[in-house]
Amino acid sequence: MILPLVLLPQSNSAFVQLPYIQLGHRTTGRNNELAVAWHAPDDQSRYQLEYRQKGAWKSAGSLESRRVALPQVSAFRVISGDLIGLDSGAPVEYRVSRDGTIVFNSTTTAPKNDRQEYTFAVFGDCGRGTSEQAQISYQTYKKQPDFVVMTGDIVYDSGRISEYAEKYFPYYNASAALRSVGSPLLRHTLTVGAPGNHDILDRNFSQKPDLLAYFLYWIQPLNGPLTTDGDPLTPTLAGPAEAQAAFRAAAGAAYPRGANYSFDYGNAHWTVLDANRYVNWSDPKLRTWLAEDLRRAQNKTWRFIALHQPPFHTSPTHQAEKQIRAIADIIEKGKVDVVFGGHVHNFQRTYPISVGTKDVSNVANRELNDWPVDTKFDGKKNTRPAGVIYIVDGAGGAPMYDTNLNANPSKWLPFIQNYIADFGFSHVRISGRKFTLEQIDMDGKTVDSITITK
Ligand SMILES: [Fe+2]
Repeated sequence: MILPLVLLPQSNSAFVQLPYIQLGHRTTGRNNELAVAWHAPDDQSRYQLEYRQKGAWKSAGSLESRRVALPQVSAFRVISGDLIGLDSGAPVEYRVSRDGTIVFNSTTTAPKNDRQEYTFAVFGDCGRGTSEQAQISYQTYKKQPDFVVMTGDIVYDSGRISEYAEKYFPYYNASAALRSVGSPLLRHTLTVGAPGNHDILDRNFSQKPDLLAYFLYWIQPLNGPLTTDGDPLTPTLAGPAEAQAAFRAAAGAAYPRGANYSFDYGNAHWTVLDANRYVNWSDPKLRTWLAEDLRRAQNKTWRFIALHQPPFHTSPTHQAEKQIRAIADIIEKGKVDVVFGGHVHNFQRTYPISVGTKDVSNVANRELNDWPVDTKFDGKKNTRPAGVIYIVDGAGGAPMYDTNLNANPSKWLPFIQNYIADFGFSHVRISGRKFTLEQIDMDGKTVDSITITK
């Protein structure tokens, strides 16, 4: 699919936010579905979503319309619909009508099936309103990946509706692809979100009535562990009861369940986890859920995890937040190939790590740094890792951490194979049993690369 780099302006009055491509709540384990979501004014307009690959336009049928009516926030609607029965990997045209008039059209690509080659991009710590964020958006769009995974801290400072409007949509759903602005990534490319601390940690509506937009905007599978306020996954909401009730009404089933989920794409299984410090991943129910999710995915060629706080990294910044190491044993037993994180604002890649039988639920053990690593793996001549590779992809736009460690391997913890404190994103190509990762900088240049084969 050839995408124009500059698009004609569209009539925007039908939208509070223009359409963006999502996995959909229903898309669990199928490769032939996508969802399209947009934000609409709070009025009685009737919207229709249609799509086609070859042949006639098909209607997406009844749309989900959730009214977001929070105190001190202008009411609007989040509308979404499913594109089903798609021809895997083929271009899709879609269009939105309001009261019978077409108000938006765009293109995307149907998810690939398990025999097709595909690419994806990964970055996190991005929605900060910086020029670097715009450049990463632009470079990512230029690569035309099949999908993009955002590894948390998607929108600073608190994942608010007002902050998405200012620091997210203008950068990733811009009308033109320009280095200084961003790109129209979201309308063409499936994006997948993992929640970070800046997205969902603050649950007190007292000062911020428009928190937790993650649960309102991301239309993703609701197949994670069932949770309720105050359990090992979910802090309680705080602030005025009216604000809490309005948020719950707007989020529906997505809150709180949407913080953890899994999906399949091509020949891979992805598990997305909430790694925030309030989550007790030593809890037996959560551990069982994750182990079971990975067990069911053993028929896939690849298994990946996306989360925010990385289990292994070498930056002094955030070094104390290793709580998610509690699941390193499950990750290993579940034969996960690569874990993509963020939180730490740079790029890091570990050697293949094995925690073996060491009890990682023990907090003292988690502090250890001398984990067995496969130093023979170089991703060039030796492409078969013995262990799990952990990537930090926190270089999507927020200011860099610990640049003094660049090109200074003697200062790195022993499990780190490469460290680059510079803005960028990972671009991964999966071709059957071959995985190739390139770390791309703001100039589109490759600054690190590895290949994994099996
Ligand atoms: Fe973070």
